[in-house]
Amino acid sequence: MTRQFTRGSLEAADVLGGRVEANFVRVLTRLLAAHAMAEKLTALGYQRALDTIDRPALSAVIRKNLAEEHKHARLVYAALAEIGVSEAQADRSLLTALKAASFAAPRHFAEHSAGELDLVMASVSLDMTGLIMIGVNYSESSYAPHARAAEVIVAEEEEHELFASNILCDAADRFGVPVVNAALREWLPRAVNFFGPPGSGFTFDCMRYGLKARDNTELADLYLTLLQRQVRQAGLDMPALTKHYPHALAES
Ligand SMILES: [Fe+2]
Ligand SMILES: [Fe+2]
Repeated sequence: MTRQFTRGSLEAADVLGGRVEANFVRVLTRLLAAHAMAEKLTALGYQRALDTIDRPALSAVIRKNLAEEHKHARLVYAALAEIGVSEAQADRSLLTALKAASFAAPRHFAEHSAGELDLVMASVSLDMTGLIMIGVNYSESSYAPHARAAEVIVAEEEEHELFASNILCDAADRFGVPVVNAALREWLPRAVNFFGPPGSGFTFDCMRYGLKARDNTELADLYLTLLQRQVRQAGLDMPALTKHYPHALAES
């Protein structure tokens, strides 16, 4: 598909000054609002982890990741502010979207996670996925403030992803393979659904405008391939999922 705008070619002034059609502003606002909310919910989850986990070896990293997720949320809300959308307005626009399958993983982390195993699964479900979405899609955004924010975020998410794969390996030793396999079966559908539905009109518009480089399915497949390698390295089983979005566990 041909992109209407190349990477970083639009500043807030272009968006506000009418260089783009009204639908571009609507799509950009929704995309940024969803990104900001995902970062904010991830920060809330890390806060829960900090409150419920007291293993000193983990606390320092949790504290670091928490501060960075807050920063990521602030960066994306700042990109929204540049086009005149406040944090409250952005959050309000997501009231329906938040109930969808694509937000189940960050919401679960923010609202229900408890203890170390949930932290492991959340990190695998949110930091690894986030790195892919931001690195592949948002770093290439035609909206320059989002591309700049993404560059900062990606550098930190690379460390979060490393943390996720390390604690996944440790978890198999600490909790035992059957327990971690069960947690993976619980979390993997949520993690994959975080990429959103395939072939939606919204994503089509995002790609046309150069706000996303790839469709959600491509990213979800990339995630499953990368995760499968790590899951096997940790001596765990990769759960099988149903083919269509929203994905669930396949009957075994
Ligand atoms: Fe983040
Ligand atoms: Fe992260």
